Amino acid sequence: MEKRIDAWLSKLGYATRKDARRFLKYNELTVNNERIINPSLKAKHEDMLLNNEPLDPKSILILMNKPDRTICSHKDDGALIYNLLPHRWINRNPKISTIGRLDADTTGAILISDDGELNHKLTSPRSNISKIYEVTLADPLKGDEADIFASGELILRNEDKPCLPAKLTIIDDKKVHLEIFEGKYHQVKRMFAALGNKVEKLHRLSFAGLSVEDLEEGEYKFIKKDEIKF
Ligand code: URA
Repeated sequence: MEKRIDAWLSKLGYATRKDARRFLKYNELTVNNERIINPSLKAKHEDMLLNNEPLDPKSILILMNKPDRTICSHKDDGALIYNLLPHRWINRNPKISTIGRLDADTTGAILISDDGELNHKLTSPRSNISKIYEVTLADPLKGDEADIFASGELILRNEDKPCLPAKLTIIDDKKVHLEIFEGKYHQVKRMFAALGNKVEKLHRLSFAGLSVEDLEEGEYKFIKKDEIKF
C-alpha cells in the first residue's frame, strides 16, 4: 500500500512527521534506487531502502529471552525490557508491548508485538495457551505436588476459582518443569506458596510452543504468527 513517506517514517518510529524533512536530509532514503528528500511523496514500504537497508517491518512480533531484573512495563522508570530493542521502536504507532508480563526476577520467553488483536487473543483468560516454566525451589518437593497441580482443585490465596490442571515434571527434588494454561498474577510463585514451598528462581522455557533455548538472555528473534501454537 502506498503512503506518504513522512507517514511511514512516523509510523515506524524513525522520525515524527514534523522532523521527516530533516531526517531525509541526513539519511539516505531511496525508492527504486532514487534518493528522496521530499517527505510528502508516496511510496510502498517494500520499495524503500534506508541507508541501503530495508525499513523495519510494518508489524513487529518478536520472541525475547528476557534477562533477570528487567521490567515488562512502559510505566516504570527502571530497566525496561524495551531498552533492549532499537530505540526508535518506542516511537512506533501502534505501540509495541509485551504479550502478558513476567516478573522482574523471572527470565525467559516473552513475546513483544504491536498487534493488539493478537495480544488480546493470547492473554484472554480463555486462551488456554501453554506456558512452560523451569522452577528452582527453596525446599525439596514433598511428593504430592504433581497430583495437586493436576487435579484442577488448587485454589490460590485471594482467588475463588481453582487453577486449571497443570503438568509437573520433576527434574530433581528442588527443580521442576511446570506447564500451565493460564496466567494469573504471580501464578507459579503462588502455586508453590500454596503448598508451603518458595520459588527461588523462575525461567519460562516456552510460551505458546515458542522456546527460547536458542537465545541468550537479552537476545530476540522475529517470529511469524503461524509459529504460535494456539
Ligand atoms: N508466575 C510467576 O509467579 N511469575 C512470573 O513471572 C510468571 C509466572
